[in-house]
Amino acid sequence: MHNRLDQHLKFIVNTFYNQDQATSLEDCWGKVLIHFFPDGQITRHSSTIDTTRLSDNNSSLFIPVLNSDIHFELKHTDKNIFFSDQDLNLVNSLFKLTQHFVTTREAIEQGANEERQRIARDLHDDVAARLLTLIHQVKDDKTIELVRSILKSLRNAIYTLDNRSTTTILDAITDIRAEIQYRLNQLGIQLIWQQPDNLEQFIFTPRQHINLHRILHEIVTNIIRHANASYMHIDIDLNNEWIYVSVVDNGTGFDINNCVPGKGIHNIKNRAKELDGNVNWTNNPDPEMSGCTININFPIQL
Ligand SMILES: Nc1ncnc2c1ncn2[C@@H]1O[C@H](COP(=O)(O)OP(=O)(O)O)[C@@H](O)[C@H]1O
Ligand SMILES: [Mg+2]
Repeated sequence: MHNRLDQHLKFIVNTFYNQDQATSLEDCWGKVLIHFFPDGQITRHSSTIDTTRLSDNNSSLFIPVLNSDIHFELKHTDKNIFFSDQDLNLVNSLFKLTQHFVTTREAIEQGANEERQRIARDLHDDVAARLLTLIHQVKDDKTIELVRSILKSLRNAIYTLDNRSTTTILDAITDIRAEIQYRLNQLGIQLIWQQPDNLEQFIFTPRQHINLHRILHEIVTNIIRHANASYMHIDIDLNNEWIYVSVVDNGTGFDINNCVPGKGIHNIKNRAKELDGNVNWTNNPDPEMSGCTININFPIQL
C-alpha cells in the first residue's frame, strides 16, 4: 500500500509540476481524477462549488475545480457501480493536495521571478554600467568593439531574465528579418518573406523572442554554409494560439536522420523544446525546387 501511495504521489506531482503551457489546471485535475477512477467519465458544469459532494443516489460525485468557474461531475461508465463515502473522502483529500501543489508552484514561480528581477537589476546597474564606463576609458578601436559586443550580449541576457518585458511579435519579427536580409544581401542570396498583417496584436515573451531569433540565426547560417542555395523563403503564420514558421531553401537538401548533427541542430531542437514547440527538417519533394524545408512551431499567449 505504501508503495502504491508513493506511485500515486509521483503521478500527481508529475502531472502538476510538469504541466506545460498548453495544458490547463483543469486538464491536470481531470487527469488525476481519472487516474484514481480509471473507468470514470467527467462532465463539465458551468458553475462553481466549494467542496466535493455525492449525488442523492450516489451515482455521481460533484467536484470543484481550482481557479475556474466550472465544476466536474464524475460518473462510473458502468451504471451499476456507485460511489462510497470513502471515494468522497479520497477526492476531498486529492483536492486539498492539489490546492497545496498549486499554491507551492505559484510561490516557487513568484520566488524565481523575484530572483530573476534581482539578477537583472544587478547586471544592469552594476556590470553594464561599468562596461559603459570602460568604453569611454579605453582608446583602441578593437577593445572598444569587443566591449560593445559584450555589452550587447549582456543586454540580451538582462532582457531574457525579465519575464515581464514583452515585445510585439511584429517588432520582434521585423528585427529578425532585417538581420537575415542584411546577411543574405552580402552573399547575393535572395530572400522571400511572408507574414500576416496582424502581428502587432500579439506578443512574445523574452524567451520566445530570443529563442526564435537564435533558431532562425542558426538555420540561416546552415543554409549559407552547407546548402549552396540561391534562394530562401520564410513564411510566418498564426493559427489557434500557435505560431508557425517555415524556412525553405533551394540548396542541396540533406537527410536529417543520416547527417552528422553538430551543435547547431542540437541547439535548435533544445530551443524549440524550451518553447513547448516542435521543429522538423524535410527535403522538398518537388524536383524543380530541391533543398530542404524546416518547420518550427510553438504556442503563444493571446
Ligand atoms: N539547410 C541545409 N542544407 C543542407 N545541409 C544542411 C542544412 N542544414 C544543416 N545541414 C547539414 O546538417 C549538418 C549539421 O548541422 P549543424 O548541427 O548546424 O552543425 P554544423 O553546421 O556545425 O555542421 C551540417 O553539417 C550539414 O551537413
Ligand atoms: Mg550549423
